Amino acid sequence: MKKKIFIETYGCQMNVYDSELVKTILAEKEYLLVPEESMANIVMLNTCTVRENADRKVLNRVHQIKNSRHQKETILVGILGCMATNFKTKLLEDPKLKIDFIAGPDSYKQLPQLIENAWEHGDKSFDVTLSEFETYSDITPTRKDGINAWLAIMRGCNNFCTFCVVPYTRGRERSRDPYNIVQEITHLVSEGFSQVTLLGQNVNSYQYDGIDFTDLMRMISDIDGVKRIRYTSPHPKDFPEKLLQLMSEKPAICKQLHMPLQAGNSRVLDKMNRTYTKEEFLALIDLTRHYMPTANISTDIIVGFPTETDQEFEDTIDVVKKVEFDSAFIFKYSERPNTRAAKKFPDDVSEEVKTKRIMRLNDIQNEISLRKKTAQIGQIQTVLVEALRTKRSTDDIQTRNDANQIVILPKLDPPFGVNIGDYINVKITGATRNSLKAMFISV
Ligand code: SAH
Ligand code: SF4
Ligand code: F3S
Repeated sequence: MKKKIFIETYGCQMNVYDSELVKTILAEKEYLLVPEESMANIVMLNTCTVRENADRKVLNRVHQIKNSRHQKETILVGILGCMATNFKTKLLEDPKLKIDFIAGPDSYKQLPQLIENAWEHGDKSFDVTLSEFETYSDITPTRKDGINAWLAIMRGCNNFCTFCVVPYTRGRERSRDPYNIVQEITHLVSEGFSQVTLLGQNVNSYQYDGIDFTDLMRMISDIDGVKRIRYTSPHPKDFPEKLLQLMSEKPAICKQLHMPLQAGNSRVLDKMNRTYTKEEFLALIDLTRHYMPTANISTDIIVGFPTETDQEFEDTIDVVKKVEFDSAFIFKYSERPNTRAAKKFPDDVSEEVKTKRIMRLNDIQNEISLRKKTAQIGQIQTVLVEALRTKRSTDDIQTRNDANQIVILPKLDPPFGVNIGDYINVKITGATRNSLKAMFISV
């Protein structure tokens, strides 16, 4: 029987990237990648464990897959990604789950062997070791033709924010050789990609033989044909002024930054081990806007971290109102096993209070997001054509502006027909919560 593989991906962009790496690793063996789970006899779930509901989603899915098959049918289920390193062999030991193999984020080169053990011998096999060196720089992910190429430049995290499980699931920080990165991007440009998005758990902590993130960004922005450079996800502690200055000077670097705040109160920030205060964060935003007055700034916020009082939560609201983020991902605190917060601080903010806080903050942020989008009406912007239709309509096309916002405009008749990958100038005519509307001006 042929080994038919299907990978389902959860969590952050790094997992999406890793799933493509796994496909490359397995493409060299005698596997067939199939487009649907129901056609596969080996299903891999590339998992996230950052919040409890992420775990729950995957465990439910494992049951669903195993129960959907006839008794006699062979179906192997493997767990990849962050749940693998977080729960390790506990996943295999659970008799109800019937997981066949597990592989952590640094073990994907072992996958052919792990699958073989499970397939040929029925052995439950696992590799969840974390490496100080693995960057997969020798493997090119299977990228579909396109306009944006994701590229992992570093992996891991050394920050140990007390709420966060990522340092345990992804291991220590390590960066890829910059020349190898430049070479890969040069090749991508020759294949038609004009936008690159650099990835890393702490992308701006990049460090390789004395070359830091600013140096790398300069090297990449000097590559001929690279028109848009983005990066995610950075940490506020690694934004030296020279990086902001470089971003302001180089047209190819998008004026778009993710600045995860997490909380607006300095006592809570200290308990989270974020290494900055409320005032330092606000000063960083001021400096960013000094260099890039119209930069699009997004953030992540956690409400209901242990011991956070109503008064302290008001500081988060204060920062949100002062900064006026363009968008924000807001989460309720979710206690994660093994983290310092789980060991030291009881999860003492009630679910009810967390819900109240998240709803209030979402309302405030939604109003700001829409107001900032509406303020763009009338502006002329250069947008990159992503699709010749939208999810809703075949009469519209979907594009993206420098700020990473979706801009929708009516399909153009020849001779102004455009293709995916073209940059065109448009005038913004409307705004909704999720996108901007525009009309065509010129190519
Ligand atoms: N490396 C990224 C974080 C990845 S996790 C960074 O530092 O920005 C993405 C977001 O999930 C975090 O920014 C945080 O807001 C949220 N998060 C992480 N752990 C969490 C937890 N235990 N409970 C709730 N939200 C959490
Ligand atoms: Fe988690 Fe903090 Fe590391 Fe981000 S910087 S991955 S929030 S420990
Ligand atoms: Fe989730 Fe792991 Fe990414 S825990 S957010 S998949 S680094």
